[in-house]
This record gives sequence, structure tokens and C-alpha cells, in this order.
Amino acid sequence: MTSTLLTGIGLLATQDPEFGELTDAALLISDGTIGWLGPRAQAPAADRAVELDGRCVLPGFVDSHAHLVFAGDRAAEFAARMIGQPYTAGGIRSTVQATRQATDQQLRTNLARLAGELLAAGVTTFECKSGYGLDTETEQRSVRLAGELTGEVSYLGAHVVPAGVDRAEYVELVCGPMLQACAPHAKWVDVFCEQGAFDEDESRAVLTAGLAAGLLPRLHANQLTAGGGVRLAVELDAASADHCTYLRPSDIEALASSNTVATLLPLVEFSTRSPYPDARSLLDAGATVALATDCNPGSGFSTSMPLAIALAVREMRMSPAEALYAATVGGAKALRRNDIGQLTAGYRADLTVLDAPSYLHLAYRPGVPLIQQVWRAGEPAWTRSALQ
Ligand code: NIG
Ligand code: FE
Repeated sequence: MTSTLLTGIGLLATQDPEFGELTDAALLISDGTIGWLGPRAQAPAADRAVELDGRCVLPGFVDSHAHLVFAGDRAAEFAARMIGQPYTAGGIRSTVQATRQATDQQLRTNLARLAGELLAAGVTTFECKSGYGLDTETEQRSVRLAGELTGEVSYLGAHVVPAGVDRAEYVELVCGPMLQACAPHAKWVDVFCEQGAFDEDESRAVLTAGLAAGLLPRLHANQLTAGGGVRLAVELDAASADHCTYLRPSDIEALASSNTVATLLPLVEFSTRSPYPDARSLLDAGATVALATDCNPGSGFSTSMPLAIALAVREMRMSPAEALYAATVGGAKALRRNDIGQLTAGYRADLTVLDAPSYLHLAYRPGVPLIQQVWRAGEPAWTRSALQ
């Protein structure tokens, strides 16, 4: 058993309700998990000590929504949007074409690059969806490749109906042979419940089939219109309803009295120039809110959890403490995990160290690379080099 003491922590933002925020703190890592935390002066002995010189330590961010298996990019679509074109679900089809043509090795290289960006942004756990294959072979390749890098894999065969395919036949494929091919490689079943993608009944059919195959439901809900996605998420006890950009009061009430997390994705509103979700009403009603990147080539191509936090604070009126909680504990709840997302004895030692005295700096210094080191399962996983 080896132990490491992180000491000289200026601010330890535990996200544990018992400990809250500790100043001049230390944290003991034993065998990959958190063994102890408390005032520096009371720290136990350890095999080695790492001095953090007053820096702030947070739980590693939990990014509960990302689409990282794809080829190509859509920079031209983004540029056209910035001069007035609206975002629509249809853009997904151009990424599908590029993804089908890519080799496993090309997809793996792109995925690894984005996973590396997430780590450098302080993310220690990420979810990853399929959804740019839309045929059985490429969807199965996508979930298999995602599973090489994360245990949080979502089968999103129901992203859109591919060009030239009959809707009803496609929904049958997604609920039948494609699901059977993908389920062994996935934990979650996801669906884009939206105008231009799948309606409420089709989405229910997909999620119910996924449940029967042993997957757990989550969904893209109420991104472009106030449709039935959130209602369906709560009806099926989905772990998370993601986007929540257009909500009716009844959706907010439903989320607040459920186990379904409202996952907000402000990098998408930023990149599609859309109104931001009403985080304040969700929080004030008592809903659990998560923040995630939704990194994808279409609606928002960013891996920056710190920027998502800054936008949540500046544009959505979340307090810095609420935004940090949403990016850590909120993400863990959206993945139904109780071993990550907070600094508590027995939890996995996933930590982000900021080159700043407080997490307030994440929003106060937007766009500045403040992540100084990242620890995953008790091991140093990334450190900012002098060149970065
Ligand atoms: O979460 N909303 C659906 N899917 C993605 C966007 C996909 C794309 O445009 O390529 C999202 O925003
Ligand atoms: Fe998404």
C-alpha cells in the first residue's frame, strides 16, 4: 500500500456536504482512493508528500455528455451560422458520411486527441456517445472504440434518421439488430428527442428497447423546442435529460420532483447562438443540475469544462459554487455514480489542481488555462508543462 499526501492546499473545495471548503488543507491518497482530508496541521504521515503552494484543489470534473467518435469537422457550418444560418439536427448527416468512411485507427486517433483535451481541461471521467454511424456496423465500431477509453458509453443509434432510409424501418433497426450489436459495448441508451430527429413515441420505443437489453436510459431533451423529451425522461426515470434549453414550467416541476438530472450544456448555446437554459428556475425549484461539454463537431466543438463553468456563471446566473457542484457532483449523479465527483474518504482520488487560490477564478478568469495538474485514481495523469 502506497500513500501520497497532497499538502499546502490553499483551498480544498471538497463538494462533500460534511467538509465543505477547507483552507490550508491536506489530502491523503492511499491505493488510488481518498484516505483522509482535513487541516494541514493534522495530516497523517505518508510515503511521499507533494507541496501545492497554496493552490486550489477540486474533484476532477465529470463530463457526462460528449460525442467524441467521429471524423471530419464542420467549421464551415459554424462560420455560416455565425452570419445567420440556424442550427438544425440535419447537420449531423454530414459527419455521418465522414465517420462511415474513416478507419478504426482514424477514429481512435481523433478520439484520443479529444480525450487528451478533456484531461488537460481537468476532466477525470467522461461519457462518450455513438451516433455518427447510423448503420449497424459503424454504430458498433463507435461504441467499441469509445469503450477503449471510458466505461461510460452511450448507444445513440437514434441520433437522426440517416438520409434515404425509411423512418419506421430505421426505428425498428435501432430497437432491434443495431441495439443487439451495440448493447454489449454500452452502459447507456440515448436518443435525440427533437423536431427533425425522433418524436416522443419513437424515443420511448428506443429507450424501452434499450432498457430491455440491459442499458440505462438518458436523452437529448428540449434542445431546440419545448417538446416531450423532459416529460419522457422523468416517465422512464432516465438518469439525465440533457440540454433543457426550452422548458415549460411543468418540465421544471417534473425534473425537481424526480431522480432525473437536468444536464445543461452552455457551450452549445454559445456555439449555436441560442438562448441559455433557465438554470436559475431549475435550481430554485430543487432540481439537480449538471454541467457538461457536449463536445461534438456540430453544435459545440469544445472540451473546456472551465469555459462551460464560466458561461454558466456569467450567462445562466449560477453561482460559482453551484457551477462547480454541477460540473462535479452533478455530472456524477447524471452518470449514477457514487464513487467520483467529490472529495470524500473512500471515493476515487480524482483531483484537479488549479494554478489559482480559489475555484472562483474559473469564472473570474474565463478562457485562461488554469488547470495545473490532474490526478486520476491517485496517480498523476497530466501536468501543465512550461511550454503549454
Ligand atoms: O448534443 N443534439 C443532438 N446532438 C448533438 C449535436 C450533433 C451535431 O450537430 O453533430 C448535440 O447538440
Ligand atoms: Fe449531445
